[in-house]
Amino acid sequence: MAQLWGGRFEGETDRSAWEFNASIGFDRRLLKEDIEGSIAHAKMLEKQGVLTSAEASEIVRGLTGIYADVYGGALVITDQYEDVHSFVEANLIERAGDVGKKLHTGRSRNDQVALDMRLYTRSRVIEMDHLLRELRSVLLDLMKEHIDTIMPGFTHLQKAQPVTLAHHLGAYFEMFTRDSSRLEDLYDRLNVCPLGAGALAGTTYPLDRAYSATLLGFKGPTRNSMDSVSDRDYLLEFLSALSILMMHLSRFSEEVILWNSNEYGFVEIDDAYSTGSSIMPQKKNPDIAELVRGKTGRVYGDLMQLLTTMKGLPLAYNKDMQEDKEGAFDAIDTAAACVSLFTSMLRTLKFRKETMEKSAALGFTNATDAADYLVGKGVPFRDAHGIIGRLVLHCIDKGCALDDLSLAEFKTFSDTFEEDVFDAISLKTCVEKRLTTGAPGRQAMEEEIRASEEILKNDWTAAYDLADMTEKEKSDE
Ligand code: ARG
Repeated sequence: MAQLWGGRFEGETDRSAWEFNASIGFDRRLLKEDIEGSIAHAKMLEKQGVLTSAEASEIVRGLTGIYADVYGGALVITDQYEDVHSFVEANLIERAGDVGKKLHTGRSRNDQVALDMRLYTRSRVIEMDHLLRELRSVLLDLMKEHIDTIMPGFTHLQKAQPVTLAHHLGAYFEMFTRDSSRLEDLYDRLNVCPLGAGALAGTTYPLDRAYSATLLGFKGPTRNSMDSVSDRDYLLEFLSALSILMMHLSRFSEEVILWNSNEYGFVEIDDAYSTGSSIMPQKKNPDIAELVRGKTGRVYGDLMQLLTTMKGLPLAYNKDMQEDKEGAFDAIDTAAACVSLFTSMLRTLKFRKETMEKSAALGFTNATDAADYLVGKGVPFRDAHGIIGRLVLHCIDKGCALDDLSLAEFKTFSDTFEEDVFDAISLKTCVEKRLTTGAPGRQAMEEEIRASEEILKNDWTAAYDLADMTEKEKSDE
């Protein structure tokens, strides 16, 4: 047990109390951020004359060495430390000697952990947007490929009107674009630096908080120091955004599962993303999509946990807030894995165009257009609706589609029908004529695709580089 706060204590901490209190088991993930933050703090102390240049360089060298040794495998983070902050400080003192003891001047673990979590969240928000962009670009490719692939559109899970696969996928493109813009929005609010807030009330040292903020790439320091150490809104916002994103992914998964069933047969999931049954040899199960749907509950749970943890906390820092980490890590890891696997599954998904089109043809999806045809010939819409309703009933009895009827049969329901009805209710016409902005008709869809391309190209993280973030840094082994 190596702690930072022995002085005021006479007795030993109870072993299980120590273990219960410790966060090293999970906050070791924040090593990179803790070191980055400490380096900035040391440089700022140097600039302000609190540390000499020699002291600051010694400290920075020590910190960089710890980072290199941990990631190189020479130094292991063990459970003997209370948290990652204690680990770094103890190791720094071991390397640099007494000068290492000066690093914590004008700093508390409260502003330190607030900073670490913000830095960590910031990079994972960017990573998440990269993953989303990949998913959206696969969607866009599929939209281009399937601009003429007709399928039934559903309401109440009943066939409603014909749409195209491009149009259906375009709906998801919109959802994931909103998810991305939610990330952009919360990124702006989280991108402020709490370092220098101290335990809760700032410090008497002449810290230059704006300078630390600049060194760490923040747009500026946070304002109120009590809020700075007790604010976890940015995590709640991120988890909320991830919950909505997971809800979208879950709906999409549900559709893939339905479409992959024998009853629909609209898609076939690639072998690489399906699994078999241990007893039923014929089975090919959509496990990845099911798991994405299932893991959505987990992310919601993480959000609820953090909201509940925060709701009763008096100002400023309370140890309850240590509970922000595991749930947040879990939600972020889960959502990242789901987006990434879903993207791979989607990229390899086989769409059965003929089955989709046949399903649209057999589902009376052209009934609205048949009614509109009569309206075009002067029949009031309500009457037209009734006539086509009776026609549909007749077809259900006969077991055929509207298009299968002869003109003579049409005429027994209304004299207004002419030879041109067949063209008017062909699926192709039904889709082609839907040209309002956002509709599935080819011209409207081409416009939507063009706009989507532009949106993707101008995505807010398109210019950010992920290269300096290794897998190992993102999730500690
Ligand atoms: N492990 C703690 C956390 O995650 C770090 C801050 C500790 N601060 C304190 N005053 N005990 O919140």
